[in-house]
Amino acid sequence: MAIAVVCLLSSCFYDVEQELYPADLCDTANVSFSNHVSVTIETYCLSCHSQISSSTIGGGIVLENYSGVKAMADNGRLLSAVSYDGNASTMPKGGSQIPSCDIAFIKAWVVLGAPNN
Ligand code: HEC
Repeated sequence: MAIAVVCLLSSCFYDVEQELYPADLCDTANVSFSNHVSVTIETYCLSCHSQISSSTIGGGIVLENYSGVKAMADNGRLLSAVSYDGNASTMPKGGSQIPSCDIAFIKAWVVLGAPNN
């Protein structure tokens, strides 16, 4: 009985800690285009920003390859759109904001100069 109570308590604590401190689980030190940024874009953006999978391309902006994403990273609109900073339309358009950790990875990658890594 005592063991069951301890297990319940510790799993509860773990859940709460994850909610309160998501940044701890979001280590952007090794951010890369191929492992992080392109995966996020594939998940949330290509339904509207791909020549292959979209019937109309949002704003004419293609994000399915590095050069397309790089252009939006360099002009600041990629980060503005996902971070809701007021300088671009909020993306994903009509959806809810992407997880803060994904935004942190995009930001870290842009700060590095948006390398093709
Ligand atoms: C439901 C379709 C849709 C989705 C999903 C979507 N976009 Fe867009 N996007 C658009 C449209 C349409 C535009 C043209 C501008 C507008 O209508 O607001 C646009 C414009 C943009 C712009 C230019 C914004 C500006 O104000 O200059 C960027 C950058 C962008 N999208 C990035 C993204 C990223 C990154 C994602 C994923 C996190 C995403 N989009 C998801 C439809 C979409």
